[in-house]
Amino acid sequence: MRIGVLTGGGDCPGLNAVIRSVVRTATTQYDSTVLGFRDGWRGLLEDRTTPLDVAAVDGLLTRGGTTLGSARVAPEKLHAGIAQMKGVLAAHGVDVLIPIGGEGTLTAAHLLSEAGVPVVGIPKTIDNDIDCTDLTFGFDTAVSIATEMIDRLHTTAESHQRVLLVEVMGRHAGWIALHAGLAAGAHVTLVPEEPFDVDEVARLVTARFERGDSHVIGVVAEGATPLPGSMPLRDGGVDEYGHRRFTGVAQQLGEELERRTGKEVRTTVLGHVQRGGTPTSFDRVLATRFGLHATVAAHEGGHGQMVALRGTEIELVPLARAVARLKTVTPRRLAETGAFVG
Ligand code: F6P
Repeated sequence: MRIGVLTGGGDCPGLNAVIRSVVRTATTQYDSTVLGFRDGWRGLLEDRTTPLDVAAVDGLLTRGGTTLGSARVAPEKLHAGIAQMKGVLAAHGVDVLIPIGGEGTLTAAHLLSEAGVPVVGIPKTIDNDIDCTDLTFGFDTAVSIATEMIDRLHTTAESHQRVLLVEVMGRHAGWIALHAGLAAGAHVTLVPEEPFDVDEVARLVTARFERGDSHVIGVVAEGATPLPGSMPLRDGGVDEYGHRRFTGVAQQLGEELERRTGKEVRTTVLGHVQRGGTPTSFDRVLATRFGLHATVAAHEGGHGQMVALRGTEIELVPLARAVARLKTVTPRRLAETGAFVG
């Protein structure tokens, strides 16, 4: 059998570990060959490939990023390019395609699958917002990085009796903010799922200093928004993929808090540092297991599906179900932070 593999969307730690796992499983357990497509769907559309054998994936387990390169492709281009992609796959004799990616990549995978291409998807994203899987790899690494950074901010915030706001990634889902906030003992956590009340945040800041606390740490997901009318947030419009362009919610909230509370506020935007570097051991193991099970499914006819972590086991779920909606932070999970706010 010949397997095609590509990595799409924003990169995340663990992608190389998956590629290695697919190649090792395909070659050593099935005597199959693996062909990599460069830069996600773009490489498939433009017929840019790279052969992958065991030697080519040597040393990839611990390396961040993706050796295949990644890119975002606008959905219209994908829709228009289905016949072309099918042609490229057929020309290379690819029997099954394993696309590794987040919501956009898996939606495209579903599209190709509906068009008759045998596909097995692998979910990745630091955002952890893919439905039907308990976790995606990359998330644990991103949370670990964010936690370490917030730990460091506590001491400098204390020394200067400041409010320190940390902006973390999370466009639609606040999982990184929620977990890093809990792990690092944040006093306030703001997520996209629940618009925040600036008055309430300002009250919390004032109350902490009035009762003698030395500092405030707030974790703000980049996609968090204020309650309508409570504070202005600059509008950045949308990008070519239809995504809202962020304008720095934490910085703008910080300015508002300084004005309302008279306290000094500093803002740190973690940005892409959360996606860089070597994956944690948890993500290496999850990525390796995803790659292994996806390759087994590719050989055993589990097409049109995605590997998923359910409890401690890896299972297959239909791509159609996995991409039907995003997995966002539930009110129940948010309520768990209640005892630690303020
Ligand atoms: O989807 C993963 C993610 O890291 C989001 O958290 C973030 O909003 C986005 O990608 C950033 O994308 P880019 O790398 O294109 O700036």
